[in-house]
Amino acid sequence: MTITATRAVIAPSASLDRAARRVLAANWRRGATVPAGGLYPHQWSWDSAFIALGLRHFSPVRAQRELESLFGAQWADGRVPHIVFDPHVPADAYFPGPAFWQSAEPGVPTSGIVQPPAHALAAWETFRAAPAVARSRRFLERLYPRLVAWHDWLLTARDLRGRGLVSVVHPWESGMDNSPAWDAPLSRVVPLPPTELARRDLAHAAAAERPTDTDYGRYIRIARDYRDSGYRATPGFAVEDPLCNALLAAGEHALAAIAAELGLDPTRHVARAQQVTDAMMAELWDVTAGTFFAYDVLGDTVLRSYSIAGLLPVVVPDLPVATDLVKTALGDRFRLADACPVPSYDLTAADHEPGRYWRGPGWINTSWLFWYGLRLHGETALADDLRDRLLARVRACGFREYVDPLTGAGYGTDDFSWTAALTLDLIRTGPRR
Ligand code: SER
Repeated sequence: MTITATRAVIAPSASLDRAARRVLAANWRRGATVPAGGLYPHQWSWDSAFIALGLRHFSPVRAQRELESLFGAQWADGRVPHIVFDPHVPADAYFPGPAFWQSAEPGVPTSGIVQPPAHALAAWETFRAAPAVARSRRFLERLYPRLVAWHDWLLTARDLRGRGLVSVVHPWESGMDNSPAWDAPLSRVVPLPPTELARRDLAHAAAAERPTDTDYGRYIRIARDYRDSGYRATPGFAVEDPLCNALLAAGEHALAAIAAELGLDPTRHVARAQQVTDAMMAELWDVTAGTFFAYDVLGDTVLRSYSIAGLLPVVVPDLPVATDLVKTALGDRFRLADACPVPSYDLTAADHEPGRYWRGPGWINTSWLFWYGLRLHGETALADDLRDRLLARVRACGFREYVDPLTGAGYGTDDFSWTAALTLDLIRTGPRR
């Protein structure tokens, strides 16, 4: 009886675990994992952080290499590019490709913008999964100075208001390209005409599930202007995003742990984590709304849009308002108790689109971050319940890029690496109950 019962519980997870590892094996290229073979055929920055979190459970060396290869393309100024291009992939496989970005850095071609700083957290968790292997490869010794240079660059070059918060200067830098939160600041950007766009994404995902041509016209104009300034000036978009700043604060906590492991003084990281947290509380927290809102730096205004990014500061240790964020997540806008994955955008908003990229569908990475935050703040029952429902969703619809949080319909590309990696992490980490 006991054996049968145990099998009934373990078997589905075991086959899901195997299937997730197969996706990660198929998407592994020379030293890094592509997010998806067709749609995203190069290495992406924050994808690699999430991918490492899954790889660490069955191939710690590959997890470490994933992060090492990304930081191998770090610029001299400290920025970590959002795409590291694979020279073996045809130049026209992805738009905009290396010829557009014209990166001046020697070595491998990259883009010149960045993505949310999930890397210090991923590096620490990767170390913790296999400390002996990491120590023998001097993983943290080699990565730590690069992580510090990355955070230093963010908090100097990108503190545009001087309030101790990082700005992103392209919607792609937020990771949530077409979030409704960016509609107002983007409306000031004159889009390039469709004739100047050579979109490749539409060959791999339906147009109704992707950003529009008008969005793309704006994305490419901002990227072009930034490139033409030598990747220095602020182009026509600049926002302080709660998720980026939360990952930075959480990342400084991780750097403190890494420094201590290396026998170095962690004090500056602890202080920095507190400074970023305090600045987020002072500048981005809205007590009445129970969420963090992004700030439009060029428009000098708060962006009162309920995006999942506003709830993700729950990943910050010692955040004084974690309980408020959980309450908002349980409310009608995000319906944490039954919607799954956690919606990327307000379910009650008139412009919520359940299948269009970051305008409504749920994603595994942001849901994983919320789950991580729930555990961090002792919300064990909610965390375990979310974990179970996320695994059930993936079992039902596969390793899709994003999912309708109410119907479970899958969208975007399939065999998506971070969906597979974080599914593995949810399985292997297990429930707390
Ligand atoms: N997310 C963007 C894309 O869809 C760029 O990072 O290509």
